[in-house]
This record gives sequence, C-alpha cells and structure tokens, in this order.
Amino acid sequence: MKFLQYVLLAAPLAATLRLDRRGKVVYDGYKVFRVTPGDDIPAFESHLESMEAIDLTHNHGHIDEEHFDVAVPPENLSAFEALNFTSTVLSEDLGADIALEGDLAEYPARELSAAALPDFSWFSAYHAYADHLTFLSDIQSSFSSNSELITAGKSFEGRDIQGIHLWGSGGKGSKPAIIWHGNVHAREWISSKVVEYLTYQLVANYSNDTTIKGFLDNYDFYILPIVNPDGFLYSQTTNRLWRKNRQTRSGTSAVGTDVNRNWPWKWDGEGSSTSPGSGEYRGAAAGDTPENTGIRTLGDQLTNTTGIKLYVDWHSYGQYILTPYGYSCTAAASNQDKQNSLAKSLATAIAKPYGTRFTAGPTCATLYATAGGSNDYVTDINKAEYGWAIELRDTGRNGFTLPADQILPTGIEIWEGIKYLLANF
Ligand SMILES: *[C@@H]1O[C@H](CO)[C@@H](O)[C@H](O)[C@H]1NC(C)=O
Ligand SMILES: *[C@@H]1O[C@H](CO)[C@@H](O)[C@H](O)[C@H]1NC(C)=O
Ligand SMILES: *[C@@H]1O[C@H](CO)[C@@H](O)[C@H](O)[C@H]1NC(C)=O
Ligand SMILES: *[C@@H]1O[C@H](CO)[C@@H](O)[C@H](O)[C@H]1NC(C)=O
Ligand SMILES: *[C@@H]1O[C@H](CO)[C@@H](O)[C@H](O)[C@H]1NC(C)=O
Ligand SMILES: [Zn+2]
Repeated sequence: MKFLQYVLLAAPLAATLRLDRRGKVVYDGYKVFRVTPGDDIPAFESHLESMEAIDLTHNHGHIDEEHFDVAVPPENLSAFEALNFTSTVLSEDLGADIALEGDLAEYPARELSAAALPDFSWFSAYHAYADHLTFLSDIQSSFSSNSELITAGKSFEGRDIQGIHLWGSGGKGSKPAIIWHGNVHAREWISSKVVEYLTYQLVANYSNDTTIKGFLDNYDFYILPIVNPDGFLYSQTTNRLWRKNRQTRSGTSAVGTDVNRNWPWKWDGEGSSTSPGSGEYRGAAAGDTPENTGIRTLGDQLTNTTGIKLYVDWHSYGQYILTPYGYSCTAAASNQDKQNSLAKSLATAIAKPYGTRFTAGPTCATLYATAGGSNDYVTDINKAEYGWAIELRDTGRNGFTLPADQILPTGIEIWEGIKYLLANF
C-alpha cells in the first residue's frame, strides 16, 4: 500500500515557474505546508498535480504519521486550502526564507602563506561553487604533506568532481577508508558546508590534538563536498530548489536524474521514479549518470584494497541517521544491531551542544523506501562496515534553505557526533 502511494507521488508535479529579470526562479508568496493526508493520498496527489506545487520531501516513516512537505504557489493557495487536507504551515513565504539564507558571500580574505587555513568566517555564509573549489585547494595547501586533491570523474556538463584525500602517519592510502560526500542533491546546501567543517577540524588540529591525530593515523579520508556540481551551480544561478543533476536525454525535454536513485544495485525496486520529470527519476539504466560513475568508481577501487570502514552520504533535511537498507524494510545488514546502536549513540552525541534531536534507524523502516540509493550499494557491493546517509538540520521550518547563521551550529554538533563515532567504532 505504502509503496504504491509512493510511486503515484513520484509522477511529476506540474511546474511552470515564474522567473525574475535575471532568469532566476521566484518563490515569493509560496507557502510551505506539511500535509498529513491520512487515507486520502491518491486524491491528495492528483490535486497537487493540478497545481504548480513543488514537492519538497515526504516521510513515509513509522515514527511520525505519513506526511508530505509541499510548497504551493500564491495563485493556487485558495484552491489548496479549500481541499481541507490536514496540514500545518511550515513557512508563510518561501521567498522570504530564501532571502534569509543570505547572499552568497565573497571568499574570505586569507593570510598569504601556504600554511594558513582558510578564514573561519567561511562557515558564516554560503558561497559560490567556484569558491568551494578554492576552499578545498586552500585546505590542501595548508596540510600539504598529508593530503592531496582528488577527482572522482566528471559531471554531465564536464566539471571535475573535486575532493580531497587526507592521511596520517602511516602514509597515503595505507588505512581503511572513510568516504564522505555532500550535495548529491543540489538544493541541500548545508551538506557541503558541514562536510567542509569536518575537513577543517581534522586538518586544523592534527598536529596539536592527539585524538584528532589518531583519527587520521587510523583512517584515510576521501572527502567530496559537492558531488553534483552541475546541479549545485544551477541551484545557485537559476532554481534554488533544484535537486537532480543536469543530464539531458533523448526522447524527453525533462532535465535531470536523481544521482542517489541511480546506483546500480536494487536499482529498479520501489522508491524511485521511471518518469524523467520526477525529482526521484532513477535514469534509463542502472548507474547511467556520470556523477554516479565517478563516485562509485572511487568506492569500488577501495573495496578490495584498504576496504571501507564508513561511508556517509550527507543530505538535508529531517535530522535522520539512516543505516541500511533502503530497498527493503525487512532485510538486515550482517552487523545491523551494531549499526543501529552506534547510530543511536551518534544521535546522542550530536544532541550534546544544542539539544538537536536526530532519529536513527534503517532507511526504509525509518523514513521511506529507496531504490538505487548509496547505502545499499556501498553496504552490499563495497562491503562498507557502515554505509549511511545523514539528513542534517532542520525538521522543516527552513528545510533546504537553512539560514546562514545555522551553518556553524550545525557543523559544531555534527563534529561532536563524528568525534564520538571515530573514537568508538
Ligand atoms: C493553479 O494556478 C494556475 C496558474 O494560475 C492555474 O492555471 C491552475 O488552474 C491552478 N490550479 C488549481 C487547481 O487551482
Ligand atoms: C472544506 O471545509 C469547508 C468548511 O468546513 C466546507 O464548506 C467545504 O465544503 C469543504 N471542502 C471540501 C472540498 O471538502
Ligand atoms: C582545535 O582544538 C581546540 C582545542 O580543543 C579547539 O578550541 C578548536 O576549536 C579546535 N579547532 C580549530 C579549528 O582550531
Ligand atoms: C593547533 O595548531 C595549529 C597549527 O598547526 C595552530 O594554528 C592552532 O592555533 C593550534 N590550536 C590550538 C588549540 O592549539
Ligand atoms: C572485489 O574482489 C572480488 C573478488 O575478486 C570481486 O568479485 C569484486 O567484484 C571486487 N569488488 C569490486 C567492487 O571491485
Ligand atoms: Zn538528499
């Protein structure tokens, strides 16, 4: 039943977007609702299709009642409200929320010494894609004997998928791998900032904190803050709520494939869409996005060499720590109990600084079914000991457009959790 409903929603929601003079989508006056349609999900979905509503996220979980977050344009608000679905308002004006996120800031001034870290004010604002590349290269030059820039293939539009590899006293490539990547979904901007914050913390205190030195001496870190550069750039220049990559395909005018429904393992099950216009479009064939090929090849290469200890695919929003599996609500990884207890302890550690509550558990049973997701591939094919997805702040008030003043607190709480995790594997 639940799966059937999911497939229905995955049909594309019609969208004729308004653009400003510079060709950027205008979200002023859009109201965001959390709708709990009860048994009336098919009716709810067909109504949404007749409006220009934007599908933000849904929670099919067993913890909360099944709900959907949707942004309804001003011209359809009265029609939507007349439908009388049980709902709460998450935001009165999505355009105002996007404005609160702040302008993209200039790259912070930095001491002109190769050893100097990027200025910490990097974590007080959002930045342009090109500046993220500068940040990564500045981090690398500040830690030059224990790191190198890496690429994991190219995007559809030909950009390098850029990352950094960090290692400790054992030398490059000698220890089990930890792989972190952000922004596979373009609009989830907090994910790259947090991945960068973790990187910064590892590098900044390697030489004067024995705990941190221990992390890098025990593991090789492969960190890719933005693995969907084309989509990320498009979310900055054109449509703040863009999710997928920017791949075009013959036979459809729809653009974009969901790179995190494209992994070639349990690819065509429940929890993705076959419709090219859908936000969860899985692609025409398993693994047929260049971005998936790039990040997948990195993990495949490490599988039979050092092995993968931890893989985290960073997302927002919802505050979840998601363990395997997405493809099935009953399948369990061989170390499932250990995964669940560690994920719950991670949630406890994350809550320490500010009391932010994360929910931990298997993807399908906790949130929703996914097909072709990273967790399942890295667990079953790459034999990662822990193959997780983490959904960062918040629980819906600001959603994907988290205000810039929450970047730092989000980084701080996640670093608190990661320090616990790396010390207690
Ligand atoms: C939503 O608004 C659009 C644009 O004004 C209109 O064409 C469409 O009929 C509306 N849909 C509903 C269900 O009100
Ligand atoms: C919604 O509720 C209002 C007031 O209770 C009622 O007049 C209206 O007919 C309802 N609309 C639908 C579509 O059920
Ligand atoms: C490094 O460690 C010190 C002491 O624990 C801490 O105050 C600081 O925030 C850490 N990070 C950086 C980037 O210096
Ligand atoms: C840690 O070491 C770096 C240089 O490697 C230095 O800049 C920083 O101030 C030190 N932090 C602490 C807390 O000692
Ligand atoms: C790892 O090695 C095994 C045994 O040779 C092979 O079957 C498997 O395909 C390899 N895995 C990857 C991801 O390359
Ligand atoms: Zn996501």
